[in-house]
Amino acid sequence: MALIEMKHLTKVFRSGRLGSRAHTAVDDVSLTIGPGETYGLMGESGCGKSTLGRMLTCLLPATSGQVLYDGRDLLRVGKRELHPYRRRVQMLFQHPDTSLNPRMTVLDSLREPFLLHDLPGRAHMDDVIREHIRAYGIQPELLERRASQVSGGQTQRIVLARIMLLQPEFIVLDEPTSMLDVSVQAQIMALLRDIQERTGVSYLLISHDLDLIRRSSHRIGIMRDGKLLEQGETGAVLDSPTHPYTRSLINSFAYMRD
Ligand SMILES: Nc1ncnc2c1ncn2[C@@H]1O[C@H](COP(=O)(O)OP(=O)(O)O)[C@@H](O)[C@H]1O
Ligand SMILES: [Mg+2]
Repeated sequence: MALIEMKHLTKVFRSGRLGSRAHTAVDDVSLTIGPGETYGLMGESGCGKSTLGRMLTCLLPATSGQVLYDGRDLLRVGKRELHPYRRRVQMLFQHPDTSLNPRMTVLDSLREPFLLHDLPGRAHMDDVIREHIRAYGIQPELLERRASQVSGGQTQRIVLARIMLLQPEFIVLDEPTSMLDVSVQAQIMALLRDIQERTGVSYLLISHDLDLIRRSSHRIGIMRDGKLLEQGETGAVLDSPTHPYTRSLINSFAYMRD
């Protein structure tokens, strides 16, 4: 059974006088993601990946289509009904430097979920936080630092730890490691896998890096100009792509690895 299902999801941005210019950033995309699954969405910069992710997490209204979660259309439920989903569906962004308030300490950032949501353990949240961060490779000394004094890799660990306090079922990972050094990238991807094994959380992994997507995804989709060109089991798509664009992508990445 699908955890989240997109049907004919479309986003048209309008600009110019009276919205006379229209740009279809996401064009009739349908896909499903199951519990505990990683769906890798691969496409070049500007093809509409982030726009799709933002619609899924209700950060951006869709122009048309549906996002079914537990059988409910998230794009059409009222604000109050949406509230529980805001906790269950989370997003990790590309730029670590804008994910945390730079003036706040790491501890304060991790306290936030307890204050915004009615999480268990609120009365002794600092103890809960100290125990919780161990699984994310965050040194206790970091808690007293300001976010501006923490490295990009550590920031992604902290943001992930904060997201996981909410016990989400689904996370959009929007280029989660593209701003990080290669060695740190591998550590964050390993942490994401570990989190999924422990909790059964589902991911939509967005990246322009076919190699990263290939290593981490159960199924993949190839996107270009807002359209999903093809999708399927990772091995099946990469071993026998049906679309010429997918073939050219695979060739260009094979070339880069040599
Ligand atoms: N808020 C916006 N207003 C107008 N156009 C936008 C907006 N956000 C994204 N776009 C356009 O939509 C297209 C897809 O952008 P985006 O989803 O960010 O691509 P990707 O994440 O794949 O690089 C681009 O052409 C971009 O310029
Ligand atoms: Mg993007």
